[in-house]
Amino acid sequence: MLSPKETHLAVPVHRHLVLFLLLGLAIASLATGDDQFVVTGFTQSSFNLEGAVTVTNGGLLDLSTGTSYLKGHALYPTPLHFRKTPNGKVQSFSACFVFSIVNTYPLLSDDGMAFFIAPANTSFAGATPGMYFGLVNSKDDGKPSNRIFAVELDTYQNSELHDMNDNHVGIDINGATSLSSAAAGFYDDESGGAFRNLTLNDHSEMQLWVDYDERSTRINVTLAELRAAAKPSRPLLSTTYDLSAVLGDPAYVGFSATAGPINVRDYVLGWSFGINTPAPPIDVSKLPRLPRVGPKPRSKLLEIILPVSTAVLILAVGAATAMVALTRWRYAEVREDWEAEFGPHRFSYRELWRATGGFKRKHLLGEGGFGKVYKGVLPVPGSNGGTIDIAVKSMSHESRQGMKEFISEVVSIGKLRHRNLVQLLGYCRRKGELFLVYDYMANGSLDKYIHCCSGDDGHRSDPTLNWSQRFQVIKGIASALLYLHEKWDKVVIHRDVKASNVLLDHEMNGRLGDFGLARLYDHGTDPQTTHMVGTMGYLAPELVRTGKASTDTDVFAFGMFLLEVTCGKRPLMMMMMQSTAEGRRDRQFFLVDWVLEHWKNGSLTEAVDRRVQYLDDGYDADEACTVLKIGLLCLHPFPSSRPSMRKIMEYFDGDMPLPELTPTKLNANVLRVLQSNAFSPTVMSYPQLTSSFGTVSDLSGGR
Ligand SMILES: *[C@@H]1O[C@H](CO)[C@@H](O)[C@H](O)[C@H]1NC(C)=O
Ligand SMILES: *[C@@H]1O[C@H](CO)[C@@H](O)[C@H](O)[C@H]1NC(C)=O
Ligand SMILES: *[C@@H]1O[C@H](CO)[C@@H](O)[C@H](O)[C@H]1NC(C)=O
Repeated sequence: MLSPKETHLAVPVHRHLVLFLLLGLAIASLATGDDQFVVTGFTQSSFNLEGAVTVTNGGLLDLSTGTSYLKGHALYPTPLHFRKTPNGKVQSFSACFVFSIVNTYPLLSDDGMAFFIAPANTSFAGATPGMYFGLVNSKDDGKPSNRIFAVELDTYQNSELHDMNDNHVGIDINGATSLSSAAAGFYDDESGGAFRNLTLNDHSEMQLWVDYDERSTRINVTLAELRAAAKPSRPLLSTTYDLSAVLGDPAYVGFSATAGPINVRDYVLGWSFGINTPAPPIDVSKLPRLPRVGPKPRSKLLEIILPVSTAVLILAVGAATAMVALTRWRYAEVREDWEAEFGPHRFSYRELWRATGGFKRKHLLGEGGFGKVYKGVLPVPGSNGGTIDIAVKSMSHESRQGMKEFISEVVSIGKLRHRNLVQLLGYCRRKGELFLVYDYMANGSLDKYIHCCSGDDGHRSDPTLNWSQRFQVIKGIASALLYLHEKWDKVVIHRDVKASNVLLDHEMNGRLGDFGLARLYDHGTDPQTTHMVGTMGYLAPELVRTGKASTDTDVFAFGMFLLEVTCGKRPLMMMMMQSTAEGRRDRQFFLVDWVLEHWKNGSLTEAVDRRVQYLDDGYDADEACTVLKIGLLCLHPFPSSRPSMRKIMEYFDGDMPLPELTPTKLNANVLRVLQSNAFSPTVMSYPQLTSSFGTVSDLSGGR
């Protein structure tokens, strides 16, 4: 129940008139047992704020402040009584709010936001941000003991939660899996009830109504543009569910969302609420303004020139001309007509130059086969000094041939969204140079954790990953590949799956990067010669023979990745032999042979990385051996005998038993012959090889 004092808290001081009205309403509602309030523009005291939530100076509730991955809740300061008596039914209620999801980089989206009602004693301590909206976690999602009702405005498709698309509204009971959901939009009364699409995260201001009827237990959810004249008469979602079986009493009403490196802002501009009475309409003219997005107009030239004399003016013009020439030269880019259509995904060189401090060495994250990678920080427009971390990959490109094709591929790759893919934000092009801009991955390359410390003496103590972390990374990469192979509009072949192309995000989730780049090297050079791309040791035999990449060759490389991660060894490994009179002698082995040998001898568990076995927390020997067997299956010399990514996922999830397979079935000899093909020095290589394996000529002498 609202007391006049709390109503005062909820209303900005400068809106005295509304306040008076409200006091009246609140007092009236006290008498009838009904609660209602309306708030347009917020102050710090309008809510109890937790985590990633702030109220801006302009009176906006910002549910996703900051760039670290953090959940945020804004709760109406006092819990409300939804039942007349403690054991009574949940009464009718209605909520209405104005929100706007502002997406700074069009290629990225976060998980969106939720309106929720949760028991007053909930702390959300165990809840996870992101797809669970900071309300529940993967373990307790859907449990009746949560007693949470929520309406989600979801802008990310999570297959785990069976989301229908990346732009939908859903009614959630006790978790983040929707009871009922619909693509964002409304039924337009003005055109006889025709359905119109809306895009939740396109910066526009929208209004959402949630209505619950005690008697029919019907829940209606209605969405509309703020500019629309009235609430559409047909709701977007309408379903029945008895909330008496769900809601606690008293309960908090509020909003939740997640802040994160992706930098999407989830704003609430105003809201109203009523128990046993309709939510009062929100006066649109009183709502706070959204921050502007995009660069500020520049008037610097005017400011400088006006106050100075003509003499200085001439000097200034001279200097300015020189400056412009210098700047032009420094920031010169290559743009062609056909690029206009990719406009939003093109960064200016100036932006990237500033972001990386002029591509200074101290910003260098690494140098790989494809070029140099720099860390950068981009300001986020309209976010009051907020920034986003990026990784900028610079590559030289000599030929213009295939560039258009490649850029359109970059743009279409930018449309790929998956939790286990490194998100591409855009590109920039200069003469002879191409830049790709990615979401920054805080924990760097998986390679580092698997191989950094891999002396075969097993006595190293550098940080590595334990088994459950490795298994999580493996499953993540498998689901990313499944997405690329089967779940997107067209089949995308990665072409270069390996541990050094897997990056770890802030939560140590594996994310596959660098896809499509191999393609650039295909396009880039003389079309007469078929260039083999990929990395030795990960190349399927038929790829070596025909030069044609397919989903099967990706599966092969994935198989090698499984062995690499599980054994903590590279595809071609060095092993120290006994010291002889001549001194230490190292020998090279193919990892596949080594694992097969162990299997034949019934000692497969010994092939597993020793550091994993000794780290022992959560180490599951059976699981590790299964992964090795799946790896060998993927490495089958005959493409048709390799499983698809879908099958592999089923094996991982335990939905499908592994096929009967014995080491002899995978004829080791055939395997070895074909494998050594993959290491043959006639295979074209690119510079990465040198860093991974030593030089090519070293390898050819191996066996
Ligand atoms: C909240 O209170 C209910 C009883 O009203 C109790 O069953 C539940 O365990 C409490 N939850 C927490 C998190 O304290
Ligand atoms: C609305 O969006 C859906 C899915 O995005 C699409 O299939 C449909 O054609 C769109 N309808 C209109 C009228 O644009
Ligand atoms: C829900 O929508 C239906 C259809 O427009 C309407 O008949 C019903 O009264 C609405 N119920 C509530 C609780 O708003």
